[in-house]
Amino acid sequence: MYVCVCKAVTDRQIREAALGGARTLKDLRRDLGVTRECGRCASCAHDCLREVHGDAKTPAKASRRSA
Ligand code: FES
Repeated sequence: MYVCVCKAVTDRQIREAALGGARTLKDLRRDLGVTRECGRCASCAHDCLREVHGDAKTPAKASRRSA
């Protein structure tokens, strides 16, 4: 599903970027363009990062938008 509508970035792309070494929103912004436009995706993108890196307080599913 789309996490960043402005840049058409999906949760899968964010997870792949995280597995490839992205650890921060700054990394995702550089690699995928998330948060470069309206910024509404920041929280969900951050949750995806946390989920991959194992420090999620809650699953990212809880805050995702439907696509
Ligand atoms: S939804 Fe990601 S910048 Fe707008």
